[in-house]
Parts: sequence; structure tokens; C-alpha cells
Amino acid sequence: MRVLVIGGGGREHALAWALTRSPSVDDVVCAPGNPGIADVADVAEADAADPAAVTALARRVAADLVVIGPEKPLVAGVADALGAAGVAVFGPTAAAARLEGSKAFSKDVMAAAGVPTGAHWTGTDPDLAVDALDDFKPPYVVKADGLAAGKGVRICADRVEAEEAVRAAMVERAFGAAGEQVVLEEFLPGPEVSLFGLADGQVARALATAQDFKRALDGDAGPNTGGMGAYSPVDAVDDDLRDALAGDVLAPVVAELARRGAPYTGVLYAGLVMSPEGPRVLEFNARFGDPEAQVVLPRLSSDLGALLAACAHGDLASAPEPTWDERACVTVVLASGGYPGSYTTGVPIEGLDTAAKVPGALVFHAGTRVEDGQVVTAGGRVLTVSGLAPTVAQARATAYQAADAIWFEGQHRREDIAADPATG
Ligand code: GLY
Repeated sequence: MRVLVIGGGGREHALAWALTRSPSVDDVVCAPGNPGIADVADVAEADAADPAAVTALARRVAADLVVIGPEKPLVAGVADALGAAGVAVFGPTAAAARLEGSKAFSKDVMAAAGVPTGAHWTGTDPDLAVDALDDFKPPYVVKADGLAAGKGVRICADRVEAEEAVRAAMVERAFGAAGEQVVLEEFLPGPEVSLFGLADGQVARALATAQDFKRALDGDAGPNTGGMGAYSPVDAVDDDLRDALAGDVLAPVVAELARRGAPYTGVLYAGLVMSPEGPRVLEFNARFGDPEAQVVLPRLSSDLGALLAACAHGDLASAPEPTWDERACVTVVLASGGYPGSYTTGVPIEGLDTAAKVPGALVFHAGTRVEDGQVVTAGGRVLTVSGLAPTVAQARATAYQAADAIWFEGQHRREDIAADPATG
């Protein structure tokens, strides 16, 4: 099978790497890819969020399966265009990807499906939103409805800050059209866990859990980022709880979307909070997490290509149950200085080969490019360095040992990834 992976970050590097290890996969092509992906797969040029360009590329490379990594192409309808062209695709249609693209839609689906989640209010009128804050207590959670590059959620300590967050989103349009509608949500305390599942339109199956570290600085301080590190598996969710969550969270959502005529095919990523009242869903995403993919996929010992193809063909029920490496995996993100604010690019990166030689280490490229034969930085998150070892503590030591070998000017990383897995 020839698989085309769409995207060019650390998640897509992990996907391409795992697909090359799949017995069912002969060739992997990735667009637009990155220099790390180019070491394991062919790379091709295409605008990942352009449905016509991706469909033309899939035809040109005779892809048997297209795997879409990031959310933007999904929301833009890349899966719809591929499906209409008769190409097997792993990734939801635009209608189903609204589960991530609209928080209000997601809450509506959860309510209809009976999925445990926090109390909420949604609306488009800023005055009504301010009035609706009366029904909540601090800390207030104010979310822009649409995609806002991870910046659309504000946890506000008091009413003044919450009203300011409502106005910033709805009146000043800090997130553009993404903030036309807001979701106010009950604050739910507790550690957060990411649960990943696969869906084929009708059937859902749990994969694994992971925990990511969203804040830029040690001790969960500083601004939110796309994720500064992750580990898997998460002890707080044992296999029995994971399977229960598949039944209580993943299956009802897949059934509800099928009932609405928007069957969901792809990764179903439930962001959970382990609240004192039990697990509650904070949000759904329509793709693997990044950097969670870089700790979940290295642990998968099943044929990833066969599983994703089974989803694309609506045949997940006949696929064998996924199997897992017993080892834990930890990943540490190496970011450009200044991320998630402004940063410079084009900075030479040293030590990649040395890092890759550390036993159990995997170096995934996130934001890199090649200039004059030298790998240089090309994004905020530059590399994710993963370590596989029997325990989380050992996997953490492996990841940091490999990360220590890599250097670029201004590099920033957290030193406490998976240091206290119980609280994350
Ligand atoms: N790491 C969080 C995300 O991928 O949304």
C-alpha cells in the first residue's frame, strides 16, 4: 500500500515513521513534509489545506490511502474532496471535523450523546454572554468557538477578567471569526488526560492515553503553547477505565455524528479532565495530538497502516485489536527562544545524529528546514525528542539524554516533562 501523509510537523513525522514500520505499507509520501520526514519517506510539495491540490497529488502519486495529520486541512474539506474523488482517506469530513472546529457544535453533540462534560453556555451576543457569567463562578472559562491556534481558551480568575475575555473575543475580535460565538464553561479541576481513539464512521476503538504539558515554563507556568512535552501511558487511566471511556465517550459521539449524517472517520481525541466527580470531556479534537502522537505511536506495535486503512474502508470492526509495546514513552519539545511569542528562524541545529544514537531515543522534526545543506530552525516548536524505556522515569531520562545532545542558539525546553506524572 502507498500512503500519502498530509502535514509537515512532529506529529506527521511520527505518523510517517510509524507507517514505514507497518508491514502493510510499501511506500510513504508526505506533503509538505520536513527534513526529518525526508529521512524516512518521500516528500512532495502541496498546500496541505487546499482540497484540490491534495487530491491532485494523491492521484499523481497513486496513493492507496491518504492520512491527514493537522486540523486545518480537515476543517477546509480536504477529506471531502478526496472522498469525492474516490481516494481512501483517514480523517473526518469538514462536517464531522466541526467536532474540533466549533466548540459550540462539540458541546451540542456531547449533550445529545450523553457524554459527561461541564455545564456551559453558548451564544453570539456579547451582552448576553456577560449576563450569562452570572450562572458561573470563578475561575471563569471563556472559549472562542472556532479554531484559534490554541489561544482561544481563557481561564479567568475573576469576573472583571472574564468580561474582558468576552469583549476581546466577541467585540474586538482578537481571534477573528473564531470568536463570533463563545462558549462559557464550568471550570473543572483535576489532571488532564488525552484519550485517543480510532473511528470508521460507525465503530470506535480506544487506542491509548497520553498527557501533554501545555504551558511554556516549568511548573506549568507561562503562556499556553501547542505542547512542550508529553508521556504515555497515563497511570490514572488503566486499561479498564480506558475501555469504559471508549464506551461512554467515543462510541456515543461516533453514533451521534452518524445519526446526524456526518459519520466520523479518523482519530477521535478526547481531552479529559479527571475531576473529583469522575472523567469529564473538556473538548474533542479531530486528529492526533502534537506532541502526544510522538509518545503514542512509538508504543504501538500493531500495523498502523492496516488500522488506518480499516478505518478509511469502514471496516474497523474486523481489524485486530491494537497491541502495545510495554515500554513507556516521554517526549521533550525543543522550541525556539520566544515561543509561543515571536522568535527567529534559520538558526543552525547541531547534534541531531548524536541524539538519534542514544538507545531508545527518537528525534522527530517539527519546525525545521535545510539551508545550504544544514538543518536549521523553521518554527516555534523545532524538534520533539522521544525516549522509550520500561518506566516513565527511565523514558524521561532517555529523552533528556538525547535532547542534551542537540543545541541551537536560543533553544528553550521545559526541564520537568513527566517529572511528576501523577499531576502532569
Ligand atoms: N497537544 C495538544 C494538541 O495537539 O491539541
